[in-house]
Amino acid sequence: MTQDELKALVGQAALQYVVPGEIVGVGTGSTVNKFIDALASMKDRIAGAVSSSVASTQRLAALGIPVFDANAVGELSVYIDGADEIDGNGYLVKGGGAALTREKIVAAQSRRFVCIADASKRVEVLGRFPLPVEVIPMASARIARQFAAMGGTARVRMAGDTPLVTDNGQHILDVTGLEIREPLAFESMVNQWPGVVTVGVFAHQKANVCLLATAEGVQTLNW
Ligand code: A5P
Repeated sequence: MTQDELKALVGQAALQYVVPGEIVGVGTGSTVNKFIDALASMKDRIAGAVSSSVASTQRLAALGIPVFDANAVGELSVYIDGADEIDGNGYLVKGGGAALTREKIVAAQSRRFVCIADASKRVEVLGRFPLPVEVIPMASARIARQFAAMGGTARVRMAGDTPLVTDNGQHILDVTGLEIREPLAFESMVNQWPGVVTVGVFAHQKANVCLLATAEGVQTLNW
């Protein structure tokens, strides 16, 4: 099976977690795009979606799925999103698509976080994937020095010749060389650094369920 087919498999499998009649939280990325495409098949049986990025909003709207402002709705029953890394406790690294802040907001607004991914995302220790951190631009050099003091190397994510600008008008640092052995404490610490908008460790907003696509089918992990 190709990686694209594996993503389509978990995108389809995630439909079973969508509660009919309700609004579903929708993440961002190539795996979630498969979920959005599958969601179109039941669009008449849901109230709509809250989206975590401009890209997902556009895809949902193009398929005729109503998108609500997060402030206009209450708690969501479920949030469906991908990940860049998943450890054995459901702690995640996210933000490869630069949407981490809105993803964490929608995850926090949801009772249950169902993570969908192919099996290549499963790791023993978080940190192999460069850790995305959304930062206020004037603080990026100082935050990079704070990561350097921990043994990490932070680089501003570029879009061509200029820094990539997120949906929130901020920049992304990608940090290599970290081993994140205590995700809860790490997330709390980095989130307190002045100028950090969101760190891409999702430990306080971890996954409750992970649907992992393997060549043998979908494996379900529950936490
Ligand atoms: C978006 O900012 C990310 O958090 C994505 O959820 C993550 O990068 C997974 O994306 P793919 O499904 O494209 O691998």
